[in-house]
Amino acid sequence: MPQEPRTLSLRWATRDQAPDGLPGIPTLQVWPEYNTHGETVGALWDRLFDLPDYQSVCWDEETGAVLAEAFVVPCWWDGTEAGLGPGIDATMRDALERIDRGDELNSLCALSAEVAPESRGRGMAADALQQMKRVAHRHGLGALIAPVRPSWKDRYPITPIEHYVTWRRADGTLFDPWMRVHERLGASMGPPLPRSLHITATVAEWESWVDLQFPATGTYTFPRGLAPLDADRQADRAEYWEPNVWFVHDVG
Ligand SMILES: CC(C)(COP(=O)(O)OP(=O)(O)OC[C@H]1O[C@@H](n2cnc3c(N)ncnc32)[C@H](O)[C@@H]1OP(=O)(O)O)[C@@H](O)C(=O)NCCC(=O)NCCS
Repeated sequence: MPQEPRTLSLRWATRDQAPDGLPGIPTLQVWPEYNTHGETVGALWDRLFDLPDYQSVCWDEETGAVLAEAFVVPCWWDGTEAGLGPGIDATMRDALERIDRGDELNSLCALSAEVAPESRGRGMAADALQQMKRVAHRHGLGALIAPVRPSWKDRYPITPIEHYVTWRRADGTLFDPWMRVHERLGASMGPPLPRSLHITATVAEWESWVDLQFPATGTYTFPRGLAPLDADRQADRAEYWEPNVWFVHDVG
């Protein structure tokens, strides 16, 4: 689709090098409510703010407005497909444990690329990934690994992620816009991750987050969900596993 020109006054920097006057970290609110309650990612997210030399922000120098953010965590990856692991929960937990122990780290894991809604469709998603690669390079990390949350998967919640990631357009490029950005930048697709990010809570909590009732025990699709959730009224638990797919970028 045609892209509006980006202004020349856009700047990217890690938070430790960004001007003092910018809004604090995190600035943008791009996630559906339910997505902020991940039992691992949600619980550990604030730890990222202790790593300002890794977290990036993009702002407009003329207005001071923050247009995008890029969150990452340095991690250990053995370089194999199997070693990529089951998803974002496992990688984030392992990375932070390694940081706490002072263990060696050799890769960077992308956690979230966020473009302000009014700035989307202008190519800033690729800029966010390029910025993550610069951060990896600066820290001497050899790869950028990304458990990608496909941006159109919520349109196909009952399609297994293993099928969805194989879909391509007539021109051969990937069907999903966010996955396409990764591939266009030269990343290779790794395994799909049916159980990447776990969110479990009471039925009432889930109902309030997604503004939908789950009157009986069963499996439900819900607005902006990438996969169905299982609600168990007797146990008063509702459980959701967000699917992702690995992409691996060479940092060079
Ligand atoms: C995913 C996200 C980062 C993409 O940012 P963006 O600025 O819209 O992306 P771009 O402008 O670089 O476009 C990327 C691709 O999506 C396509 N696209 C963007 N908006 C679109 C729209 N409204 N309709 C159709 N395609 C669209 C673009 O055409 C482009 O594909 P193409 O270059 O092959 O044509 C942004 O939507 C976002 O912040 N979403 C919420 C957070 C999120 O899901 N992050 C990713 C997971 S961590």
